[in-house]
Amino acid sequence: MTNSPKRYLITAALPYANGLKHIGHLAGAYLPADIYVRYLRAQKRDVAFICGSDEHGTAIPIQAMKEGTTPRAIIDKYHELIRQNFADLGISFDIYHRTSEPLHHETAQEFFTYLNSRGDLEVKESEQYYDEEAKTFLADRYIVGTCPVCGNTRAYGDQCENCGTSLSPEMLLHPHSTLSGKPPVKRSTRHWYLPLDKHEDFLREWILKEHKDDWRATVIGQCKSWIDGGLQPRAVTRDLDWGVKVPLPDAEGKVLYVWFDAPIGYISATRQWGLNTGKDWRPYWYDKDTKLVHFIGKDNIVFHCIIFPIMLKLHGNILPDNVPANEFMNLEGDKMSTSRNWKLEMEDYINDFIKKDNGGPQLADSLRYYLTTISPETKDSEFTWKGFQDANNSELVSKFGNFVNRTFVLMHKLCNGKVPPLHPDRFDDADREIIAAIEATPAKVEKLLEEYRFRDAQFEVIMLSDLANKYMQKKEPWIVVRTLEETPENQQLIDNCLHLCLQVTANLAILINPFLPFTARKMLHLMKVVEKMLDWENAGKLKLLSVGYSLRAPELLFRKIEDAEVKEQIGKLQAASEARIADAVGEPAGAVGTAGALAGNPPSPEAAAGKEAAVKPAIGYDDFAKLDLRVGTIVTAEKVEKADKLLKLGIDLGSEQRTIVSGIALHFKPEEIVGRQVVVVANLSPRKMRGIESNGMILMAEDPSGKLYFVQPGEKIQPGSGVS
Ligand code: MF3
Ligand code: ZN
Repeated sequence: MTNSPKRYLITAALPYANGLKHIGHLAGAYLPADIYVRYLRAQKRDVAFICGSDEHGTAIPIQAMKEGTTPRAIIDKYHELIRQNFADLGISFDIYHRTSEPLHHETAQEFFTYLNSRGDLEVKESEQYYDEEAKTFLADRYIVGTCPVCGNTRAYGDQCENCGTSLSPEMLLHPHSTLSGKPPVKRSTRHWYLPLDKHEDFLREWILKEHKDDWRATVIGQCKSWIDGGLQPRAVTRDLDWGVKVPLPDAEGKVLYVWFDAPIGYISATRQWGLNTGKDWRPYWYDKDTKLVHFIGKDNIVFHCIIFPIMLKLHGNILPDNVPANEFMNLEGDKMSTSRNWKLEMEDYINDFIKKDNGGPQLADSLRYYLTTISPETKDSEFTWKGFQDANNSELVSKFGNFVNRTFVLMHKLCNGKVPPLHPDRFDDADREIIAAIEATPAKVEKLLEEYRFRDAQFEVIMLSDLANKYMQKKEPWIVVRTLEETPENQQLIDNCLHLCLQVTANLAILINPFLPFTARKMLHLMKVVEKMLDWENAGKLKLLSVGYSLRAPELLFRKIEDAEVKEQIGKLQAASEARIADAVGEPAGAVGTAGALAGNPPSPEAAAGKEAAVKPAIGYDDFAKLDLRVGTIVTAEKVEKADKLLKLGIDLGSEQRTIVSGIALHFKPEEIVGRQVVVVANLSPRKMRGIESNGMILMAEDPSGKLYFVQPGEKIQPGSGVS
């Protein structure tokens, strides 16, 4: 490589320490970052790989409220769990720091003070929502109201989780505080702002001109729409008691906005890494010859491409060279979502595969492999268990693993377990082709990695193993061996084939190392060579294993994923999601039939905190009129397999018959409800539960003890009759 920078600083988004992280997070930021870093290390570049927990922001106290504990207990718990999950999956951070550390508070305060003292921040009075009963200003997440876009009545002040729209508290209809349940009032407060608008020219020049060709189109596109949409001053302080205190005498009760302090966490983590290793951290953030790359998911783009760079520029630091943000990864046909319980957590995968008897670190590589093949680099992608099984069984097992295994088996059978000599005078075209492939592959992989095209880079490595399989198939040393009695010199053909297959194997170890580090090390073990062989400069060489060297007996690199495992995982996913829906049916009185509950929204913080829910904010007649309520008769009822709480109901609505899945199985036996009349929400969007499409919802009432009652007409009437 020409012109390589003196050092690399690689960051992966600091995960909120408020819950376990799923494979969408892993595929979005941490895995690609790890591949890139492992590649750089193999190139012997000077690199620091930085990550850690994001422990501020309202997400933390809210989770504490949900779990009935303190914010401190939450961050301690999740910091450790997430750190360990990453380690189990081979994500090789140089440091996994925490923003709750004093060193971080100090670093963030210094940063703020510096900008403020140079007049780079503006101070403004503004009206913000205040809860008079709880006597506190309300962070966006503490305000709930109706989404102006989709009508979800449980939208948060920063976002509607039903339709995904970003909101501000002012946009909510009928806002109320989650602390007291009361509508908040506006009160004046003073905050510090970063005037993004003053840096528009810089951003246009730096992003839209300088980086228009080397940053991903999706990233440039998002930046452009932000800039074109008109940049506004952005508050960098909040009225909150959880976070980094604003380091000014007249700022009681104020902390730095979490998105101001968290990215500074990259700097404080680098400082701590310097302390741990005795290295000077400063050049990593100040010397122009450092290449800074931020790995993130697309929801973090504005912070890493617009806000933090402005902060860095003002503070005199270097700017990122690239921000290879990934799109999202869906799961089995639906968006991954923690609140709807539609997700695969790293922790679950680790427990179900890596830590099982037939598991082990090779199963970490199976996941890494599949996630990279579906890496959402240019558009959203989709994880399916079937896809995982296919990628593992037909690529890792059948191509890569099979090739390495056959090479070892044949070498032991036909060459006494030693690396056979080479006889170049007996090369044919096939030999020359595989040699050319060994020599040409590293440059291809390297180019793709330098362009952050991890999916394609990994594919090149698998292609080499595929070619090598075909090569072996063509040379058929197991057939040639039968000719030896008549033509002893044919041993030379066998030698050539296995010698080259072994050199391919050594090369595969080097090339796959960034992607599948556990596999690469297992291959080293089989070849009885040291870690040093994995240095990237060895890739493409044909003399990695010396003639006469004896190698270990073969061991399988990967194992198959069985159909039963796929089935079990899909069942688990659906059961978890239904448990969530069925639990929602058991929410406090009156909430039983809400669309929000069935749409799978998270329990409101007040419900989670065990407080009685306040009467919901008033709605207009128009809102009510959107509901299409009708009387229906239950004509069939049956239990849903493997879902304790669900019944599948056939409902006669007069003009049509509907299937509705309802979470009432713990309360009623199927046979006792057939013939009953019920009130049906007839225009609720269909939703799949345990593979059954549910078309609508039945209304139920619940008394304070949790007992359910049907809501039904006083006398039997014609099915399909309207209710209003
Ligand atoms: N905690 C944020 C999230 O999960 C990411 C923070 S990245 C940092 O979306 F740059 F702020 F650290
Ligand atoms: Zn919405």
